[in-house]
Amino acid sequence: MTVMTADARAARGSGGRVSVAPMIQAGDGTEDLGLSALDVLTTTRAVRRRLDLERPVSRDLVLHGIEVALQAPNASNRQQLGWVVVDDPAVRAGMADIYRCGMAIRSAQIAAEGHGRTPAGPSGAASRMADSADHLARHLHEVPVLVVATIAGRLEGADVATQAARWGSVLPAVWNFMLAMRRVGVGSAWTTVHLFEERRMADLLGIPYDEVTQAGLFPVAHTVGTAFRPGARADTESTVHWNQW
Ligand SMILES: Cc1cc2nc3c(=O)[nH]c(=O)nc-3n(C[C@H](O)[C@H](O)[C@H](O)COP(=O)(O)O)c2cc1C
Repeated sequence: MTVMTADARAARGSGGRVSVAPMIQAGDGTEDLGLSALDVLTTTRAVRRRLDLERPVSRDLVLHGIEVALQAPNASNRQQLGWVVVDDPAVRAGMADIYRCGMAIRSAQIAAEGHGRTPAGPSGAASRMADSADHLARHLHEVPVLVVATIAGRLEGADVATQAARWGSVLPAVWNFMLAMRRVGVGSAWTTVHLFEERRMADLLGIPYDEVTQAGLFPVAHTVGTAFRPGARADTESTVHWNQW
């Protein structure tokens, strides 16, 4: 069964040039959870322990997420982003090995910086997050789909404006992807530690390293249960500067 939103039907039926088809193939039991936009925006968490490692994620579902992702803003609408979607277990195993190397590098950095697991949010939250990150690293090869998002060009040495335009042309799309997945009970976690070993990942996946930058790696799986809460965050007012910094 195909589920299409009213907006998508309107766009299709308008005969216009715009074709937005946020469809999901519901044959695998995936369904719209019926969350409000605010719920989706405030409960899309980094899901690591609650990824269902047994349940496959259909390619149609991933394509649905990417279709929604591509609606994100991007500089001059040049759409220079790309996605490597991996559901081959052997390739996922190689990716997970590289991820774990990146994680080890990051852990060594943290130890050298001497601040260990810095407190964030309620007491114990930082250590729980680190344990959860370790859990994901140990099980990454078991996650049914791993997605690497990319942007054209290399950013080393680029001026800040160029960097902002380039990163800003892929990161909102990735967030759109995660939100679209959350809407239908699929979770992910934003991860970047493999970028310490970006070239190795490029070699494994056939990404032309000199022409394409990887933005992150996103595990994709149905979630175990669908209830998630808003995360602990800074006090809103403390982040705001009215009129002047
Ligand atoms: C730019 C960025 C990089 C991140 N890198 C990693 C990572 O490499 N591994 C990981 O397990 N989580 C990573 N995270 C997830 C964060 O730890 C997580 O978003 C944060 O702790 C807040 O948790 P929440 O998203 O569930 O509210 C990253 C998140 C962002 C936005």
